[in-house]
Amino acid sequence: MRAICPGSFDPVTHGHLDIIERTARFFEEVVVGVGRNTSKNGLFSLEERLSMLTQATAHLPNVRVEAFDGLLAEYCRQHHIGAIVKGLRFASDFDYELQMAQMNKELTGIETVLLPTAAQWSFVSSTLVREIAMMHGDVSHFVPTFVVDALRARAAGRPA
Ligand code: PNS
Repeated sequence: MRAICPGSFDPVTHGHLDIIERTARFFEEVVVGVGRNTSKNGLFSLEERLSMLTQATAHLPNVRVEAFDGLLAEYCRQHHIGAIVKGLRFASDFDYELQMAQMNKELTGIETVLLPTAAQWSFVSSTLVREIAMMHGDVSHFVPTFVVDALRARAAGRPA
């Protein structure tokens, strides 16, 4: 079966990569679906996020990275994707994800699988990584090295 790990990945973190790697062990094919989250202020462009994810998942042969627009459930129907896989960090993630899972199921019948995030990444979020990096803090424990470089460049006002 083909699965999708959707998100805005702005930027990709070790928490995301843990979920993608575990999904790739369960499913034959995994699409990492990079969407636009209209309620969040983006730091990296869609092209930059796609490129960082492609680099970060290059060691996983059954994983490919794609941009998606519009409804996730509709994208899954059109691309023969049987399951949405999301990571759960804490209770508020669960409340949000449960509602989306039930709505997506109602829309097209697509199933959602919720995986507990690895404990070591449970407090990591792209939002906090962006904030810390823009204030010149150290995020090297939470994201791949090339993402650290891109964040440093952005914090210094240079193109990534
Ligand atoms: O990493 P994020 O920002 O939590 O990812 C959110 C994302 C992109 C997965 C979510 O916003 C999404 O599914 N967007 C697609 C639009 C959609 O289908 N909305 C209805 C959800 S029930």
